[in-house]
Amino acid sequence: MDAIELLKSQHEEVKALFKELEKAKGGSKEMLFDEIADALALHATIEEKHFYPATKSARTEDMLREAVEEHLGVKRIIADLLESDSSDPQYDAKLKVLKEQVEHHVEEEESDLFPAVKKAMSKEQLRELCVVMQDAAAEIESEGSPRDNVPAETGAPAPIE
Ligand SMILES: [Fe+2]
Repeated sequence: MDAIELLKSQHEEVKALFKELEKAKGGSKEMLFDEIADALALHATIEEKHFYPATKSARTEDMLREAVEEHLGVKRIIADLLESDSSDPQYDAKLKVLKEQVEHHVEEEESDLFPAVKKAMSKEQLRELCVVMQDAAAEIESEGSPRDNVPAETGAPAPIE
């Protein structure tokens, strides 16, 4: 597996969870949201700490700056949702906006950023980066629920250097 394949598989995982969420009600909606928040938090962290800095170049810099701004927007909605529950009349609307923003971000990464990275980096480099990212993911998961870190990351976009 290479770094791009890893990130795409995480995108698929989140898409599947959002699909399940459409059918969920009440408490199970909140549990699914927690799962989505964990998956997105883990994904954003390994992208910001490893994938974005490793793939930064003159060609990708603008895309990466937009990506971390989009992550910031997503994190703010997640932080907001972590403080609400499904009895809030805005709860479903917040979930919907989260889903739309994630879909937009995934679409841009998969159609613009990933192809540019694929051109600039060798298969070997992308495989090595994948190992680093998998190790980082395992470490984050061993520390507890990744979503717990999100509220502290809503002040500014992650640096990409
Ligand atoms: Fe991302």
